[in-house]
Amino acid sequence: MADLTADLGFIKLKNPVIPASGTFGYGGEFLQFFDLDLLGAFVMKGVYTDERGGNEPPRIWETPSGLLNSIGLAGPGAEGLTKIIKDVASKTSTPIIVNVCGGTDEEYLEVARILDVMKEVAMLELNISCPNVRAGGSCPAQSSSDTRRVVKLVKENTEKPLIVKLSPNVSDISSIARSAEEAGADAISVVNTFLGLALDIEKRKPVFKNFFAGLSGPAIKPLALKIVWEVANAVSIPVIGIGGIMTGRDVLEFILAGAAAVQTGTVNIVEPTGSVRIISETLELMDELKINNLEEIRGGLKI
Ligand SMILES: Cc1cc2nc3c(=O)[nH]c(=O)nc-3n(C[C@H](O)[C@H](O)[C@H](O)COP(=O)(O)O)c2cc1C
Repeated sequence: MADLTADLGFIKLKNPVIPASGTFGYGGEFLQFFDLDLLGAFVMKGVYTDERGGNEPPRIWETPSGLLNSIGLAGPGAEGLTKIIKDVASKTSTPIIVNVCGGTDEEYLEVARILDVMKEVAMLELNISCPNVRAGGSCPAQSSSDTRRVVKLVKENTEKPLIVKLSPNVSDISSIARSAEEAGADAISVVNTFLGLALDIEKRKPVFKNFFAGLSGPAIKPLALKIVWEVANAVSIPVIGIGGIMTGRDVLEFILAGAAAVQTGTVNIVEPTGSVRIISETLELMDELKINNLEEIRGGLKI
């Protein structure tokens, strides 16, 4: 049987499948469907310092093969999250990743510091892409210098491995990924959602109060694969591929494009046991294609 372990350098995961931030609650919600120990790791919903209510509804809108969301990062705040983390960690030994958000550099740092001291947290994922919070969307991931500054600040003040999650809504993702790497990122995760627009023709208004929303799901998979390939060729730290993954075959495509592991997002919303199915499918396909381990095909695209 194939070896499913995924090597991120700073940690070895039992398999490459990591449910993505915002699509998997805080993990505990999924205990009614399966044992969290089956996962490679999982990422909790993004958190700011203070409790947030999120955006006005609607927050979700189906599109052909995809989903637009404008949640606005609702959540309990960093201190509130520490209790939830302790509770979930007592029910699983799977590594927990916390998605760190901030409206300012200081807030990113404060949230990261609160979570950094928790032994239950394996890694931090710095969400510098935040598509649904500020209309007009000026986030650190939109510029190389802002990315460099905030990643350096958090890295210098925390001990945990730092994954930096980038936005696809930029013109030169490779240079932004390189800035994150130079500033000390331990891994890059790509992509967050693509900005999109849904319109209501009767009302002649945008569907979302925030105007633009974030597109995810199978509709974005080819776009995400392209970005993963570009980023994997631009940096030497591990890349975690995200975008429209629904099957084991999708997982292996992202690994072939250069990802060391993947995150599964929208699939968890439409099929709560989807990530577990994807893990078995990946193993079955590796056996069928006689792939012994993921490193054998990682970045091995023949061109
Ligand atoms: C409802 C929803 C909420 C999300 N919330 C977050 C979040 O809090 N932090 C974050 O970094 N990404 C968030 N994302 C983005 C996902 O983690 C993922 O990057 C994106 O959905 C693309 O993957 P997919 O096509 O497999 O869904 C959210 C996505 C959805 C659909």
